[in-house]
Amino acid sequence: MDIVDESSLKESGGLTSKAGSRNTEDHLPWVEKYRPKELGDLVAHEAIVSILDKLIESNKLPHLLFHGPPGTGKTSTIKAAAKKMYGPKYASMILELNASDARGIDVVRDQIKEFAGTRKLFSTGVKLVVLDEADNMTNDAQAALRRIIEKYTENTRFCMICNYVNKITPALQSRCTKFRFAPLKPEQIIDRLNSIVTQEQVNISPDGIESLLELSGGDMRRVLNLLQSATMSYNRSNQQITANEVYLTAGAATPQVIDKLYLGLMTNDFTTAHSMLLEGLTQYGYALVDIVQSLSWKVLETSFPDEATSILISKLSDIEYRLSKGCRDSIQVGAVVGAFIIVRHKLIHPDEKEDGMNVEEVKPPAAP
Ligand SMILES: Nc1ncnc2c1ncn2[C@@H]1O[C@H](COP(=O)(O)OP(=O)(O)OP(=O)(O)O)[C@@H](O)[C@H]1O
Ligand SMILES: [Mg+2]
Repeated sequence: MDIVDESSLKESGGLTSKAGSRNTEDHLPWVEKYRPKELGDLVAHEAIVSILDKLIESNKLPHLLFHGPPGTGKTSTIKAAAKKMYGPKYASMILELNASDARGIDVVRDQIKEFAGTRKLFSTGVKLVVLDEADNMTNDAQAALRRIIEKYTENTRFCMICNYVNKITPALQSRCTKFRFAPLKPEQIIDRLNSIVTQEQVNISPDGIESLLELSGGDMRRVLNLLQSATMSYNRSNQQITANEVYLTAGAATPQVIDKLYLGLMTNDFTTAHSMLLEGLTQYGYALVDIVQSLSWKVLETSFPDEATSILISKLSDIEYRLSKGCRDSIQVGAVVGAFIIVRHKLIHPDEKEDGMNVEEVKPPAAP
């Protein structure tokens, strides 16, 4: 729960006072220290904020379903909305549950029952149950939740939060008003990022800021975590944070390295390209999933025939999916190189094919 002096919030537009000053939030990670305290502190999502504002003011809050990628402000929005609705009574009027909790729906049901059942102590307004990570609930749990929502609608509103809305059953979706939280654009992040840099007196160059925005992928949490880690690692030794330090902190390959890998994949034979990519992973500790994402952007930026772009992007997405499911980097390196070689030989430079070799003819050996 946030512990911040309301007057200091107003003066600083939601940002707390300077680093080094005595502040109860100084020990917090920056993502928490700079969590928006009021709806107005949120960057982007103006339409969502304005609708919520109106619903709260007219006392007509429906059940809510917030969905969208990580670090876009879903949890912050509902917390700020609850503070607006309840003010100092906030703690007693909101129940925050992690819906993916392994203890199951029975415990959740009991907690909700106990929470919603104490309404007589507080005469005004509906209470709020926040179910975070609702997409991790089993179908059975979601089915049970349908009844729970209906049963307690009279004095309780539910806000479900998730990353993947298609994992929420249609029956639950139809009980809620849905809001999608899109990834934040660099131009939406930059002002808040600059204010935090000033407040925390971070010594960072403009290209450092730019690389933070590039690496963010629209996730503000990632931006703040990276900024804080880079500050801890480099500013303490009075070193300025530049793009290089940001990429090092993130463990990500710099655009120059990606360019080199891309060129290698587009020109070398399989063995050379394979060892080049493997060396990048083992020697410099890059994660293949990051490299695959950057390579996908490079492919999209290059003007290949449409068919080549489609095949490459589709193969790279499959590889990213397999990596996300825990497949080993070393195995998928072969798949990345293979994807480039096949598309190159088939569609980009068909004349590159070695004599007598036709990729279409290379079939796996027949099963014994
Ligand atoms: N729209 C935003 N405006 C300002 N700060 C933001 C915004 N979105 C995220 N942040 C920053 O990122 C942190 C994480 O945000 P939050 O917890 O709201 O993300 P989330 O969308 O709930 O992510 P997840 O899906 O991972 O739970 C916040 O503490 C805040 O510092
Ligand atoms: Mg959240």
